[in-house]
Amino acid sequence: FSAFLTDNFGRRHSYLRISLTEKCNLRCQYCMPEEGVKLTPRGQLLSTSEILTLARLFVQEGVDKIRLTGGEPLIRPDVLDIIAELRKLEGLKTIAVTTNGINLARLLPKLKDAGLDLINISLDSLVPAKFEFIVRRKGFHKVMEGIDKAVEMGYNPVKVNCVVMRGLNEDELLDFVALTEKKPLEVRFIEYMPFDGNKWNFKKMVSYQEMLDRIRQHWSNVERLQTGQTDTAKIFQVPGFKGQVGFITSMSDHFCGSCNRLRITADGSLKVCLFGNSEVSLRDVLRSGASDEELLQIIGAAVGRKKKQHAGMFSISQMKNRPMILIGG
Ligand code: GTP
Ligand code: 5AD
Ligand code: SF4
Repeated sequence: FSAFLTDNFGRRHSYLRISLTEKCNLRCQYCMPEEGVKLTPRGQLLSTSEILTLARLFVQEGVDKIRLTGGEPLIRPDVLDIIAELRKLEGLKTIAVTTNGINLARLLPKLKDAGLDLINISLDSLVPAKFEFIVRRKGFHKVMEGIDKAVEMGYNPVKVNCVVMRGLNEDELLDFVALTEKKPLEVRFIEYMPFDGNKWNFKKMVSYQEMLDRIRQHWSNVERLQTGQTDTAKIFQVPGFKGQVGFITSMSDHFCGSCNRLRITADGSLKVCLFGNSEVSLRDVLRSGASDEELLQIIGAAVGRKKKQHAGMFSISQMKNRPMILIGG
């Protein structure tokens, strides 16, 4: 495995998340401020060929999974071409996307043809009016249709991401678990994380322990399943249910020790940690006409600066970071 992608703590970064756009067709409260964010001028965003050049380089060095994020990745007009081109990269085993699901049902057949392997879909409420309040737009039924169609088309597991916020959707925990009785979904409850502009505070966060306690009061037999070493979620199942329930515990029990992720933002910066604010612009290096070797030196140096773990929830809630919409999760 490439020394450039291995950090000082022995972590091998074989999973790259590429943000395809800063734009989104929703306005989720936990992801962006109501007034939106200042968008990067078009010419400073990565072009399709720049994205593919970087992807090829990372795959050559050992990346075997690429997840496309946003903003909302499915609104990038050439998303299908990007997937089809990534599919040609030898060594890339998995191409995944994280989407809000609005355009999913319509695009699914084409996404599958292009070679998409895995789909994660955000869904924070099962009550249409509450969904609209959280995402500040309409579209609940489109998302549900996208989820069902992904299952029908054989995507497995289809993961559903639910950011749990106190006073907002915490009362729906059991309804989300119930959804896994008949549908083979992996519903993941995510601890609310702080990013610029999302008004995070400790009281709004519902911890893993509290969520699990509440679920156990209703399904005392819910059991923990084995997961892969680098998975973000702790997975459980109610015996007899078709699907699973996961918890992404970035705040109360971080999983930085097994982190294998790097991120490239839509404007071409390499971000070695979701909660780190040191970035390096690979776009500028590319545009200066650098060789692969020079790019790798710069990537390797950034990976070498990666911290052992994030600084703790109170520190990261104070630090300057991007808003989530400009990172991609
Ligand atoms: P898989 O590739 O299926 O494991 O999905 P994922 O959980 O990595 O990605 P997804 O885009 O579905 O993100 C779900 C939640 O996990 C989001 O809240 C992300 O911000 C969070 N997440 C993803 N990767 C990391 C990470 O490396 N560190 C932390 N702390 N959170 C992460
Ligand atoms: N805290 C936790 N998860 C978040 N996501 C977006 N913003 C936050 C936040 N503040 C999740 C969404 C999306 C994924 C990419 O990141 O659920 O599915
Ligand atoms: Fe990796 Fe940073 Fe997330 Fe920790 S907080 S798991 S180091 S990206």
